Amino acid sequence: MGLHVAIIMDGNGRWATARRMPRIAGHRAGAATVRRVIEEAPAMGIGTLTLYAFSSDNWKRPVEEVTGLFMLLGEFLERETRALVEKGVRFSAIGRRDRLDARLVRMIEETEAATVGCGTLHLRVAIDYSSRDALLAAARDGASTREEVSALLGGAPDVDVLIRTGGEKRLSDFLLWESAYAELFFTATAWPDFSNGELGRILEEFRSRDRRFGAAPAVAAFALR
Ligand code: FPP
Repeated sequence: MGLHVAIIMDGNGRWATARRMPRIAGHRAGAATVRRVIEEAPAMGIGTLTLYAFSSDNWKRPVEEVTGLFMLLGEFLERETRALVEKGVRFSAIGRRDRLDARLVRMIEETEAATVGCGTLHLRVAIDYSSRDALLAAARDGASTREEVSALLGGAPDVDVLIRTGGEKRLSDFLLWESAYAELFFTATAWPDFSNGELGRILEEFRSRDRRFGAAPAVAAFALR
């Protein structure tokens, strides 16, 4: 089935500012990193990749930056849909759609429909996403068991590896339920500079970690046999 890797792609703005470029240039460079990671993810054993592209709190950013980010997402969908189908990548967006531009929503729906049968990698992009709001919506829809909550949150497997680039060490309302037992990795590398080599090293460390899910070490070793 493959690992579920979730990434908080932080540090784009600072990457651009350090180069005396507008912040949107950092996001554009970040979109190039997204393409590179998608390319290698299946070979690295990743089955589900969830990327935090726009949080519900990101609406607080200057309108030019917000517009620029949505433009980049639209460009990505427009240019990459065919490549996603060819690579067997299923695309889904998670998050609210009612505040997005109708054109972007249409593009999201088209890419989701075009890739629905793909099974090499499930790429989930969080747009206007808040984990707390998603949980509230699931509760409002009547979820009362763990399985029902997980299904209403999109039905993806639990997160195995959660990575945040850009040096900050916080979760910022991302996949709080799904990451209950995720292994956390924080790197100072800004997202535009994040390489598949670094991703590979993180996955190597992940594989060496002892995941006990609350059990005592000996019990876990026994259970895994
Ligand atoms: C955080 O960096 C990054 C974002 C809010 C946007 C991430 C979006 C992309 C990489 C664009 C394309 C995405 C896809 C899926 C094609 P920041 O701006 O908070 O950086 P800073 O902390 O240095 O200011």
